[in-house]
Amino acid sequence: MAEAYKELDPDTMPRSPGITYQELLDLDSHEVPDVLRLQSPKDMGLNEFPVTRYTTARYHELEKEHLWKKVWQFACREEDIPEVGDHYRYDIAGMSFLVVRTETGEIKAYPNACLHRGRMLKEFDGNAAELRCPFHGFCWKLDGKLNDIPADWDFPQLDKDNFNLPELPVALWAGFIFINPDQECAPFDEFIKDLAPQFERWNLGGLYKQAHVAKIMPCNWKIAQEAFCEAYHVSGTHPQIMRSLGDVNSQIDIWDNCARVITPGSTHSPLLDYTPTQAEMLRTVMDIDHDQPVPEVPDGMHMREFMANRARENLREHAGEKADLYCDAELVDSLDYTLFPNFHPWGAFNGIVYRFRPNGNDHRSAIMECIMMAPFQGERPPAAEVRWLEPDEPWSSGLGYLGKVFDQDSFNMPKVQAGLESTYQTGVVLSGYQESKVRWLHTKLTEWIGE
Ligand code: FES
Ligand SMILES: [Fe+2]
Repeated sequence: MAEAYKELDPDTMPRSPGITYQELLDLDSHEVPDVLRLQSPKDMGLNEFPVTRYTTARYHELEKEHLWKKVWQFACREEDIPEVGDHYRYDIAGMSFLVVRTETGEIKAYPNACLHRGRMLKEFDGNAAELRCPFHGFCWKLDGKLNDIPADWDFPQLDKDNFNLPELPVALWAGFIFINPDQECAPFDEFIKDLAPQFERWNLGGLYKQAHVAKIMPCNWKIAQEAFCEAYHVSGTHPQIMRSLGDVNSQIDIWDNCARVITPGSTHSPLLDYTPTQAEMLRTVMDIDHDQPVPEVPDGMHMREFMANRARENLREHAGEKADLYCDAELVDSLDYTLFPNFHPWGAFNGIVYRFRPNGNDHRSAIMECIMMAPFQGERPPAAEVRWLEPDEPWSSGLGYLGKVFDQDSFNMPKVQAGLESTYQTGVVLSGYQESKVRWLHTKLTEWIGE
């Protein structure tokens, strides 16, 4: 682990006033799993990171060479390509890759490029018996072996036994397919070793892809990503949820390739200058209008337990008795994990997964995606196809209540880009603890790319 990560003592480090996350866990009505008791705060210094990371094509090129061409990255779900011949196009930073289900059921990934004169092999996701280039008809089998060259007498220079599609390393974790464009990369198990054990009890592989919404955002991909890496912005951007969110009491944990921000729900923000009533908290957390009645919380019951019980009953419809395995915290808190560089699965039953990518080679444009995973009983339902929102279409039209919050976040993004293009500052300023996941992301970028 890099020199940049210094252990902090959770009991003595500077922190917000108000109840700590670990103290909230002590109130839980169920047994709290070990994974939530982990604490891994890190001191990564207080330095600034260059504004040019967001504003220059040069930094995008560095990211492409040293990060996107080298790193393990989430490409698609296994359930996106269930049948033999199914293929999925995954694009990153101007490059395109094909993820293919082969005849044996194995998953392979190739550069999406014909070995003749380079045409993209497949523009669209779909199903095919072979990978035939539409330009002159060179054709490969699903397993990447050369199948056919029209008029092959005219290519005496090619070794046809070995003229196969180059294979990328592929890995599967919890139903997510990861690829690495670097054929010499380090093993995936090594890359994901901090994150994988923490998800054992949540079994994301047992969920199905219920929704997948994507939108082009007019900002650098890191601006979009970093908007979801701290809860410090809640008082400025989402003041309406402060009555039921312990924003600045979030617990932030940093490991090597993974980090998490846990933001407690059904507790109020320490930044409020009053203590909200339970009715006020319920209106916020349940999105109830002022003229509508709120449910009664039994005497002596904590709001967190009350909300967790409701969530548990909802979950029971789909998950059966497994719903009782979850503690209150797993049902009401935001457990936002990040696997470097851009994969964000939420822990527990939430089933939310974010991904942020550069949009082609435009460093001022990003692809932001939200995937919703859900439990099911019986046969696995088909995976949702990606729904692309139009530039002026709000996230709320694709994601309901969560989308309303995204719309507030999204409103900031082009303004952050515009501000960074105009600022006289050379670096962005980050807090020591609450924004330490953002600092971790930049520290990792420094490790991969250099200054
Ligand atoms: S470029 Fe693909 S067959 Fe010619
Ligand atoms: Fe937000």
